[in-house]
Amino acid sequence: MARILITSALPYINGIKHLGNLVGSQLPADLYARYCRARGHEVVFICATDEHGTPAELAAAKAGQPVAEYCKQMHAIQTDLAHGFRLSFDHYGRSSSARNYALTQHLAARLGQAGLIEEVSEEQVYSPTDGRFLPDRYIEGTCPNCGYERARGDQCENCTKQLDPTDLINPRSAVSGATDLEVRATRHLFLRQSTLRDTLDRWIDSQTSWPVLTTSIAKKWLHDGDGLQDRGITRDLDWGVPAQFDGAPWQGMEGKVFYVWFDAPIEYIAATAEWADANGLDDAAWQRWWRTDMGAGDVRYVQFMGKDNVPFHTLSFPATLIGSGEPWKLVDYIKSFNYLNYDGGQFSTSLGRGVFMDQALELLPADYWRWWLLSHAPENSDAEFTWENFQTSVNKDLADVLGNLVSRVTKFCRSKFGETVPEGGQTGPRELELMNVLAGHLASYETRMEAIEVRKSAQSLRAMWVAGNEYLQEAAPWSTFKTDPDQAAAQIRLALNLIRVYAIVARPFIPDTSVRIMAALASDDWSWPDDLAAALDILPAGHGFTVPDVLFAKITEDQRTEWEARFAGGTDQSGQRG
Ligand code: MF3
Ligand code: ZN
Repeated sequence: MARILITSALPYINGIKHLGNLVGSQLPADLYARYCRARGHEVVFICATDEHGTPAELAAAKAGQPVAEYCKQMHAIQTDLAHGFRLSFDHYGRSSSARNYALTQHLAARLGQAGLIEEVSEEQVYSPTDGRFLPDRYIEGTCPNCGYERARGDQCENCTKQLDPTDLINPRSAVSGATDLEVRATRHLFLRQSTLRDTLDRWIDSQTSWPVLTTSIAKKWLHDGDGLQDRGITRDLDWGVPAQFDGAPWQGMEGKVFYVWFDAPIEYIAATAEWADANGLDDAAWQRWWRTDMGAGDVRYVQFMGKDNVPFHTLSFPATLIGSGEPWKLVDYIKSFNYLNYDGGQFSTSLGRGVFMDQALELLPADYWRWWLLSHAPENSDAEFTWENFQTSVNKDLADVLGNLVSRVTKFCRSKFGETVPEGGQTGPRELELMNVLAGHLASYETRMEAIEVRKSAQSLRAMWVAGNEYLQEAAPWSTFKTDPDQAAAQIRLALNLIRVYAIVARPFIPDTSVRIMAALASDDWSWPDDLAAALDILPAGHGFTVPDVLFAKITEDQRTEWEARFAGGTDQSGQRG
């Protein structure tokens, strides 16, 4: 079996994430991790909070807390929510960890030794009102590329272009709103990633199976305009990894920190080391996932992220790893996502528009959201959440198709045969036909999951549920029972086994429901139905079960209208959400 390393883009520490953030990286990464584990692969699934830079400082200031304290608290909150959504990280680390400080400073030292770091005197925006430089998100203005009016100093959220604060039109301080900004000279370190352009270009060309969304963004930053630009990797901030090099200072950089986008991806590696530490393992245990000289050569490394993260993962982070001259494992596959919009517009933190992770779990259990989000993942284009669509999808797919089938079969069996798998009778051509249809859908489910085609995988899974319903409709054991109880017994025995197979294959999407079904069926054999016919024969006649409580409650019109109004936004409710 293969060894698969999976990372999700690290959510910023600056608040509770909305459903658009969730479906853009952590949730599909979890889907894939769960699937790979279910197929028997050895998986390490890593995430962490991204705790440095201006997002953290600004949010802490707004919350009136010291940054370190704010980060600690928000990490605990995000950890709870990750559990709530059943995100099955092997480790949920923190980019402010000692491991990340050490590794970031180590890699910087290697890059320095390789001549890939250069000191540059540059013009930075300074705000006399705030008494400080305004790097990255400390400044906002109009994007010179697309005209979006709330672009930040580091990147335009709307068109994904990476920016410098001095690029913004009509800039203003994000702290005070001051517009009396001036440009002052300051010295910073730059990563000379332009010298690695051809290497990166060749590496990206060799990745023939990457999604178009990923490669097109990478190619754009490699070739558009003047080509790949060197990027500043230090900042005039208090909070972050001190700009030191394996312990040694760099003259003139005292008091500066590394840029958040320099240290954050390094945390993928550091968090794996944190995972080893937390489990009492030695360095070799994490290095076999990350160092090709330590066995990582046969690891398949898959990353998940939103499209705005692609330039950093296809160019800057690989430049850091390659430039170090050390045998670090590079990513094998980058799954990137478009944006999820909310009911005709964007999710908006400041306007309290859209649904945030904590709110979602207050309304409904995780599986409802997981199913909708994954089956509508913004893969080929931006997607949109509407309450109507959510209601339809929950009521049809989950309540009618899956939930109702489980309930009908178990209840019918209880009333006619008792709470044991009935014996007698034989399966015939109709059952054979069902198996063939199911086998086809299962094969396509597997192919699509392996290709990380999230929406299509959901369709294949749903098709398996639908096939079961159609079979029951035709076989109609409730009428068969009147004339031929033995045959009805055989049909119900198959149907109970079918439900068990559903629980196993659906687990990556709806883990809690799967566990409930398996508990009701008193089965703990989660092995994958490689041999479908055998899997449909696991529960023998005489095996006891119980009828589970309703698996999915339908969303009513009243609920939908109420929620629509409640989350429409309009009042500032940002609070901890970010
Ligand atoms: N925090 C960033 C974001 O939310 C993602 C960081 S991914 C990492 O856009 F690679 F830097 F870790
Ligand atoms: Zn833009």
